[in-house]
Amino acid sequence: MTSRIEEAINVLKMNDRGDYTVPTNRLYPYQWNWDSGFTALGLWHLDKNRAWLELASLLNAQWKDGMVPHIVFRQNDPDYFPGPGVWQTKTSPSTSGHSQPPVLASIVWEMVQMGGLDDINRAREIFPDLLSYHRWFCEARDPKKSGVIGIIHPWESGRDNCPDWDIGLAGVDVPNNIGEYIRRDTVHVDSDQRPTGYQYDRFLTIVNFGRKVGWNHEIIYNDGPFLMADPGVQFIFLRATKDLLEMARHLGQDSTLHEIEDWVERFEAGSEWLWNEKVGGYCARDLRTGKFSNGLTNASMLSFYAGVGSVEQQNKSIDNCCRIMKACKFAMPSWDPQHPGFESHRYWRGPVWAIMNYMIARGLSDAGFEDLAFRVTSDTKLLIEENGMAEYFDPLIGKGLGGMNFSWTAAIYLDLCRDSLIKDSRGIVTRARAHGFN
Ligand code: DGY
Repeated sequence: MTSRIEEAINVLKMNDRGDYTVPTNRLYPYQWNWDSGFTALGLWHLDKNRAWLELASLLNAQWKDGMVPHIVFRQNDPDYFPGPGVWQTKTSPSTSGHSQPPVLASIVWEMVQMGGLDDINRAREIFPDLLSYHRWFCEARDPKKSGVIGIIHPWESGRDNCPDWDIGLAGVDVPNNIGEYIRRDTVHVDSDQRPTGYQYDRFLTIVNFGRKVGWNHEIIYNDGPFLMADPGVQFIFLRATKDLLEMARHLGQDSTLHEIEDWVERFEAGSEWLWNEKVGGYCARDLRTGKFSNGLTNASMLSFYAGVGSVEQQNKSIDNCCRIMKACKFAMPSWDPQHPGFESHRYWRGPVWAIMNYMIARGLSDAGFEDLAFRVTSDTKLLIEENGMAEYFDPLIGKGLGGMNFSWTAAIYLDLCRDSLIKDSRGIVTRARAHGFN
C-alpha cells in the first residue's frame, strides 16, 4: 500500500507543470500565489532546485509596481472561471488583478534556515523582489500609513467566503446583467462545499470594477466596492515582514533594515484596530464603516504567529482557542463552531485547512503554548493520514472536502514528516529520487 508520504510526493509530481505547480488538476489549473509558497516548502524537502524554481516562476509574474498577483494564467483553460479574459490585466504573463496572503518571505526564510550556502544565494537573488512586494503592500494597501492592511476583494484574503466578509459584501451593489456567467468550480466540487451564488455575484462585481478602472489600485482602494481589514493578511504580512527583517540581517542587506523595521513597528501598532473586545479576539473589520465581523476564525488565531497582543489579549484569545478546540474533533476550524454562521463542510465557513494550521501551530509554539501547538499539529497529521490530501477537512468528522490530491496539503504533510523523511530513506534526496525528483 502506498504510504501517505509517497502519496504526498506523487501529488506534487502529478501537479507539477514544469516550473510551477497547480494547486490541483482541473479545479485550479493555474499558478496561485500562496499555494506556490507553501508548495515550495514541501518541494524543498524533495528537490531544492525545484522549490526555488517554484518561487522564481511566481516572481516572474510580479507586476512592475511590486505586486505579486494571486493567479498567474499561463494559458487559457476553459475549466476555470473567471479566467484571463475576465480579468484583462494586460500583463505578460496574464494574471489576476490583486494579491493574496504574502507568505513568500516567511517561506524563503524557513528554507534559508533549514538549508545551506546555495539556499542563501538563492534567497539573495530574490530578496529585492520580496522587498518590493512588501513595499507594494505598504503603499497600495495602506496608503494612509495607518498600520492596517485593507484588502480590496475577499479573494485577496485567500479565505474567499468566510463569514468575515459578509458585512463588506452586503454593501456591494450587483448590476442586473451580472447573471450572464457560468461557474466552473461547482462542476468539479459539490456546490455545498463552495461559495454561494450570492457571493459569486459580488466577487465578480468587484473584479468588473477593477477591470473597468484598469486595475488602478489607488482608485480601487479609495472607491472600489469592497475594503476590509483582514486579521489573516494583516498577521501573515506582519510575520513575513519580521522574517524579511531577519533575512535582511542574515544576508547583510543593511541599507534595507531601517525601512523594514519601520514597517514592523507600523503594522504591530495598527493591529490593535482589529481587536474586538466584545468577542475577545482579533476580527475582520470594514475599513470604511469601522464595523466588526462578530466571529472568530482560524485567522484570528494567527495573532501569535504575528507576535501581537498584550498578555490580557493573549489570554482571552487562548480561552477562545481552547473553547473552540473542545467543540471540534479536529482543530482549527475556519469559523467558530458555536457561532450561527458555522457550516462544517463549506470552504472557509467551518472547514480546517492544513496551511492555516501550519502557521497557527508555529505561532502558538513561539508564544510558549506548546500543548495547544501540539494539538493543532497532531490533528493536521491525523486528518491527512485518515483522509488523504484533500483541499480542506470537516472539523467535526474529519471528512476530506473540496479538491482532492491538493498540492499544499501534500506539501504541509511532507514538512510535518520532515524527520521521518530522513529516517525512512536515510536521506531525503535519496527517497525523493526514487519518486522522480532529482
Ligand atoms: C477560487 O477560484 O475559488 C479561488 O479561491 C479564487 O482565488
